[in-house]
Amino acid sequence: MAEWLKSGWRNKPRIQMPDYTDEDALKAVEAQLASYPPLVFAGEARRLKEKLGAAARGEAFLLQGGDCAESFEQFSADGIRDTFKVMLQMAMVLTYGAKVPVVKVGRMAGQFAKPRSAATETVDGVELPSYRGDIINELDFTPASRIPDPKKMLQAYTQAAATLNLLRAFSTGGYADVHQVHAWTLGFVEGEKAAKYRDMANRISDALDFMNSAGVNPITSASLKTVDFYTSHESLLLEYEEALTRVDSTSGKWLAGSGHMLWIGDRTRQPDGAHVEFLSGVQNPIGLKCGPTTSAEDLKVLLAKLNPKNEEGRLTLIARFGAGSVGEHLPRLIKTVKEEGANVLWSCDPMHGNTIKSATGYKTRPFDSVLREVREFFGVHKAEGTVPGGVHFEMTGQDVTECTGGVRAVTEEDLSDRYHTACDPRLNASQSLELAFLVAEELSSLRQERQAQAV
Ligand code: PEP
Ligand code: CO
Repeated sequence: MAEWLKSGWRNKPRIQMPDYTDEDALKAVEAQLASYPPLVFAGEARRLKEKLGAAARGEAFLLQGGDCAESFEQFSADGIRDTFKVMLQMAMVLTYGAKVPVVKVGRMAGQFAKPRSAATETVDGVELPSYRGDIINELDFTPASRIPDPKKMLQAYTQAAATLNLLRAFSTGGYADVHQVHAWTLGFVEGEKAAKYRDMANRISDALDFMNSAGVNPITSASLKTVDFYTSHESLLLEYEEALTRVDSTSGKWLAGSGHMLWIGDRTRQPDGAHVEFLSGVQNPIGLKCGPTTSAEDLKVLLAKLNPKNEEGRLTLIARFGAGSVGEHLPRLIKTVKEEGANVLWSCDPMHGNTIKSATGYKTRPFDSVLREVREFFGVHKAEGTVPGGVHFEMTGQDVTECTGGVRAVTEEDLSDRYHTACDPRLNASQSLELAFLVAEELSSLRQERQAQAV
């Protein structure tokens, strides 16, 4: 087999990528990025791979979430902190409720490029190229804003570096200390789940007090004071990805330096396409979105190309079929994976198969459909005897009104109140917490059922 090259994707058919008009400007940006330090290191990617391997065996659970599209305009320390905080709260619900270690991966510090269903957008009879994420062009509906500008890659790199810096500080600098479990509730929206969370926080505090008085000092235990938090994004803009790809001096293998975990979207998973070619050669853990149109034949080729050594934790299959369709598609793909004897981690994205247009004109997702897809995902794995190992969702720590439903019901009329997403509708903090409680219940009941069967 020919040696993999980080530029090898350039010889393959590419879709969903911009046609830059100024070739010299593009080359200059690529050269500049290639001279910058990578954002993540190989040892971190390897550690994440090990943890994802544990999740694939049912010994941990993957929680992967964040923005649909990070935005230059909405970039702020508070925004990063609030998303991080909700991820910690969700992880706490899972660790406490389902007694399982949680692998925390943000859709953060690089989630800037977006695939689009249509190449153009028409408003009041005016047709312009679609918005493709802040790393490519601008959301404003003017001809100039929609021209792809390679310099935006430099701004994305800077924002990703600053985001990652803050995440690393939050993870190890005291904010993520489990003794802060109450402080994370500050600014909490009231509701049944908030009360349930506070009750759990009280019990965790009691347990810590008890350990302290019994002479076990939880205050100094590193595992309670810090968390491991990883970054991820869709590997879509391959010029950016290639420029940040480096050889890891310890192993001699290639590492995509833009984030810990990268995934291939549902629109760019052609087995002979550019995106699959690029991710086949880097050592990072990778994700592959699987949708209703993923065929068994394609999946077989993709399993072989993306994980030729069948490594544990290397490949996460992110199922996104839509509520009501999981039963039709997931069993057939699980069958293929079993037939191939492939090691994969199954994760559920209950967002992208459930996007609809509301009567008020907004793109939204009914929260009931989101929860239903998660239940269906667990149901199929229960029946198949396989491991439901993670969830992948779009969320923000801000109190937005983008998905309808939830305990503090957001109605279609409410959507216009706080609809801030640059792309797809996200769960707000309260809906995210509700999702975490559902996943904890599903995991606990699965564990009980399997323990009963084992006896
Ligand atoms: C996404 O995760 O934002 C996305 C576009 O998903 P998918 O490729 O599954 O449609
Ligand atoms: Co999205």
